[in-house]
Amino acid sequence: MKSRSPNPSTANQRCGAARVSVVADSDDRVLCARAEALAEKLGLPLAGTDTGVSGATDLLLAVTEERLELRDARRSVVGPVFVDFLHGPSGFRRRSDLSRRQPIATAIGLRRGPVAVFDATAGLARDSFLLASLGCTVVAVERSTVLGALIRDGMSRADAEGSAAVSTVLDRLTLVVDDARVVLGRLAGPAAPDVVYIDPMYPPRKKTALPKKEMRFCRRLVGDDGDSADLLAVARRVATRRVVVKRPRYAPPLAPNPTVRFEGKQVRYDVYSTSVRSPD
Ligand SMILES: C[S@@+](CC[C@H](N)C(=O)[O-])C[C@H]1O[C@@H](n2cnc3c(N)ncnc32)[C@H](O)[C@@H]1O
Repeated sequence: MKSRSPNPSTANQRCGAARVSVVADSDDRVLCARAEALAEKLGLPLAGTDTGVSGATDLLLAVTEERLELRDARRSVVGPVFVDFLHGPSGFRRRSDLSRRQPIATAIGLRRGPVAVFDATAGLARDSFLLASLGCTVVAVERSTVLGALIRDGMSRADAEGSAAVSTVLDRLTLVVDDARVVLGRLAGPAAPDVVYIDPMYPPRKKTALPKKEMRFCRRLVGDDGDSADLLAVARRVATRRVVVKRPRYAPPLAPNPTVRFEGKQVRYDVYSTSVRSPD
C-alpha cells in the first residue's frame, strides 16, 4: 500500500460551495492532537469538538477513535461518509462481483491479462479498489485533499484489519493526491499507463432519484467536475491502450465517437482506443 502526500501547489481543495472544518470527535487529547495535525496538513480550519462548531461550516472532517469521516455539520440525521474497503455490500468481505466479464472489466480490457490503470478521478476509491481486486495495478489520483485523506484512512484501516488477500490488493494500489492532468503530463514515455479510467461527477438531471449520500457529499465538496473534457483530452494523449469514461446511461459521451461502449445496468463505459489495436 503506497500513498503520496499532496502537493500543496496543485492539490488544493477544489470546492463546490461547501466549507469544511476538521473536528475531533471528543475532547480526548490524542484525538484533538490528531485533528489539529490534520487541519494543519490540509490547510483547513479546526473546529474544537463537534458540539462547539460554529455556523460557518457546512461539512466536518471528523477524527474519531475508529476512523476519519465526513459529516454534514447542520443535519445530524444524515449519516457520515467514510471509506470502508472491507464491509458493506461492495466491501471486500462480501464482494461477489469479481467477474472479469462485468462491464467495467471488459471496458478496461482485462481479457488480455493484468493492466496498469491510472484512475484519474479516485473519489472514494471504490472503483480503484475494485480494479485492484481484479488484478490491475492502480494509481488512484484524487485532487480533493479531503477525499484523499479519507481514502488514505480507509487504506490503512483495511491494511490493519484485513487478511493477507486484502494486503495483496492494497499493494497494487497507489494513492496520489493531485490534479490528474498534472500527474499524467509527467507520465509520457515508458511510465505511461496502459489505461486511464475517468469517472467524473455525473451531470445533474432534472427528474431523477436522489443520488446516493456519498455522491451528494462529494458534489458539495468538489463541485461538478466541469473540466472533465479537458482531462479526457490529456488522457487520450498519454494512455498507451485506451481511455475508459464511466457515464450515466442518460448522459451523452464526454467526447464524440467513442470506439466502443459497454453498457451496465445504470452506467455506460465509453472506450476511446489510443492504440492501433481496437479494444475487445
Ligand atoms: C464521481 S467521483 C469518482 C468516484 C469514484 N470512481 C469512486 O469509485 O469512488 C469524481 C471524483 O473525481 C475527482 N476529479 C475530477 N477531476 C479530477 C482531476 N483532474 N484530477 C484529480 N481528481 C479529479 C473529483 O474531485 C471527484 O472526487
